[in-house]
Amino acid sequence: MPFRDNYVIDPGAATWAVPQNFDARFNWDYDDGRAAMMGLYRKGVEMQWNAETRIDWSQDLDEDNPQQLPEAMLPISGMAQYEAMSRRDKARVRKHFQAWNLSQFMQGEQGALICAAKIVTQVPDMDSKFYASTQVIDEARHVEAYNRLLRKFGVAYPITAPLQELIDQVLRDSRWDMTYLGMQVVIEGLALAAFQQVRDNAQNPLAAAVNAYVMQDESRHVAFGRLALRDYYPHLSQAERDEREEFLLEACYLMRDRFDAVEVWRTLGLDPAACAAHMYDSGYMQQFRSALFTRIVPIVKDIGLWGDTIREGYTEMGIIGLADVDVQALQDSDEDIARQFDARRAYVASVADRAKAMEPA
Ligand SMILES: [Fe+2]
Ligand SMILES: [Fe+2]
Repeated sequence: MPFRDNYVIDPGAATWAVPQNFDARFNWDYDDGRAAMMGLYRKGVEMQWNAETRIDWSQDLDEDNPQQLPEAMLPISGMAQYEAMSRRDKARVRKHFQAWNLSQFMQGEQGALICAAKIVTQVPDMDSKFYASTQVIDEARHVEAYNRLLRKFGVAYPITAPLQELIDQVLRDSRWDMTYLGMQVVIEGLALAAFQQVRDNAQNPLAAAVNAYVMQDESRHVAFGRLALRDYYPHLSQAERDEREEFLLEACYLMRDRFDAVEVWRTLGLDPAACAAHMYDSGYMQQFRSALFTRIVPIVKDIGLWGDTIREGYTEMGIIGLADVDVQALQDSDEDIARQFDARRAYVASVADRAKAMEPA
């Protein structure tokens, strides 16, 4: 079935064109590059994987609760109108909300694919071009994996306006570091937090595995943004850094306040304002807001965009305390967890083999 038939809202034209105005840059100094950047490149090359074979796609989703997520992860759970629904209607709400969320993962991954390709073309340093080229194939694989998972829902949503606006802004900007800042720091950071919620809470093994494997790659992407920008920002003027801090704050507010799934509530005939009112104070949203910035705030501090503007803004948002989160520890744990999923699959396969060997011939 054509993918488009899964959309419950018409996404419009088949392609979206974002005008570009930047120089494609060559570099004739084939020097060795920075050791840390080349180390990341080597890791990117060595850790390639095939979504077709690493994941067991024969696994199914659950009919009532596709990714088998706790009810508390549905932002309108507890709302009177939802609680009064029949079992079938509740299942429909869960399916649509999860499909909306996953659709944003997939659409965002396409944004990451295009941004990574732009970085390859535009960034002046050869070692960064090398690394970013491994990210291009990573992002293609992520689009593939999320698309395969989403097809099992039979329901898909177009990219949500705030995400599209942010990607548009990041791609149009002719300064190479803005693509990094918007994509590698903000969107990747938010994505990691969102993927983690599914990885750590989904009882469905397929959904959990897809997110675990994607996260194994994403943590390298955030590390890349960090390496490249940490070297660059000290050379900018305070005014130039201020502009970037303002952009960061705006982007953080946009992702925090407008990622509200209003398309889902409208599609299902629920009152978006009533849903928003319920969501605002829900435990889900509180957890979402703090999880969201765990992966961003420490990076922002680390790359040296830590002037008054950003510190005041983050204090106001109540997230300044996240500045000292150990990002390296998070990254190491993302890699360990992905390996645990490999081990689990190998174990299940070995049990199946042994059971088969016991069958009478
Ligand atoms: Fe990705
Ligand atoms: Fe990424």
